Amino acid sequence: MSEFLPTGIQLTYLVASALFFVGLKQLGSPATARKGNLVAAIAMLIAIVATLLDRQVLNYEMILVAIAIGSIIGAIAAQKVAMTAMPQMVGLFNGLGGAASALVAVGEFWHYFGSTAHAPLSSTITVLLGVLIGGVTLTGSLIAFAKLQGLISGSPILFPAQQIVNATLLGGFLVGSVYLAATAPSEPIFLALTAVSLILGVMFVIPIGGGDMPVVISLLNSFSGLAASAAGFVVSNNMLIIAGALVGASGIILTVIMCKGMNRSLTNVLFAGFGTGEGGGAPAAGGGSTGEKIVRQVGTEEGAMMLGYARSVVIVPGYGMAVAQAQHAVRELTDQLEKLGVEVKFAIHPVAGRMPGHMNVLLAEANVPYEQLCDMDDINPQFEQTDVALVIGANDVVNPAARTNSASPIYGMPILEVDKAKHAIVIKRSLSTGFAGVDNDLFYHDKTMMLFGSAKDMVAQLVSEVKQL
Ligand code: TAP
Repeated sequence: MSEFLPTGIQLTYLVASALFFVGLKQLGSPATARKGNLVAAIAMLIAIVATLLDRQVLNYEMILVAIAIGSIIGAIAAQKVAMTAMPQMVGLFNGLGGAASALVAVGEFWHYFGSTAHAPLSSTITVLLGVLIGGVTLTGSLIAFAKLQGLISGSPILFPAQQIVNATLLGGFLVGSVYLAATAPSEPIFLALTAVSLILGVMFVIPIGGGDMPVVISLLNSFSGLAASAAGFVVSNNMLIIAGALVGASGIILTVIMCKGMNRSLTNVLFAGFGTGEGGGAPAAGGGSTGEKIVRQVGTEEGAMMLGYARSVVIVPGYGMAVAQAQHAVRELTDQLEKLGVEVKFAIHPVAGRMPGHMNVLLAEANVPYEQLCDMDDINPQFEQTDVALVIGANDVVNPAARTNSASPIYGMPILEVDKAKHAIVIKRSLSTGFAGVDNDLFYHDKTMMLFGSAKDMVAQLVSEVKQL
């Protein structure tokens, strides 16, 4: 048995790793994402059971208590946390992942510290990497959580010589690490290095605006994977190394996708002090003229007629639909329009809302069929043939300035080309700006009608008007 167990465990790890790959692949499409989540969860269960069968596990009671507590917290969080609060929940869980990896590294250091033996260089390096990445992930994620939850200001916190302070802290960590690796394990130096990595996490996230926190959380997610991988090297566990590397790689891929969707570099997100999470300055609401620009308004009755008598309607949801929780009313509107023979599609921008897949998740919650959701590249060529584009609480992702105004901060960002549709109806409460804080020319186009009001109320009113057609 003792001969068989390690081989059996390694083979089980191989099966779990293969299932992780299958799960990740399935998570890539909304149609298979739920299945992918389940497959990955089963893979994790298999990995945990295999690890528990390992002879190195000494205390099953404590592990079972921890599993029970973790499962209860996870189940309650999954049920209770609102969809709009999902980024901060993920942020908090990332932080705990980083903390776990850092604790594994700290435990391993104490193991060497307790013995008189000189730790091997490879172990010292992996322990220090675990402490650095785990510590940064923990405190960075806690700050990201606090910013998103409104516990601290979402504004970037900047002070003079900030980069120099950060570089000094990182340099200090490197010097201390070299000293620790070259001499016998030293408790005070190790504790100082742990403290520096925790401070670095805070320093990393405070200069970043609240609105950019989803990107930071995705990056920290990647860090938490790297920290887990480092912990895997520390305790020589292949499963932890593989699972950590997968989280690290997928987190960084998602971060890059988000940056591309916003047409910003990762450096710009991390160091430009951009985005407070609020919109920018707001031109006055209501119809009429704002300077040279003319705003055309529409009421729900006329809007319903435009939609009901159209052949094709493309709905473009954005952050405002999420804030108003209008997705169920939107589904009802879709049903009513389809009853009238209107072809309805949804145009999904990769960074609409405030978290990856935000619109997909909300529309799935309202049971909008996946087949009706179109990616940006698929839907953009179709706008010219679309009778009415209905924009619900979206702003930046439909701003033509990204295509036409090289002076605009969002110039070059890929957008949904709503301005090419035959007509556009835009539902929002005012003319105020979105996340990027830039005015939107779409609102003043002669083909655009503004329907001012909260998304949920306006869509509900459209539903009752469409029912009477
Ligand atoms: P935004 O450009 O942020 O615009 C949202 C609009 O929703 C606002 O202009 C607001 O206008 C309106 N709104 C707010 N509450 C509303 C309500 N109750 N009813 C109706 N409208 C309401 O949204 P978007 O077009 O989805 O673009 C997303 C932005 O976030 C992009 O700039 C993107 O780069 C950024 N971002 C995205 C992510 C991810 S991963 N999705 C992460 C970080 C940043 P009123 O106040 O006039 O109603």
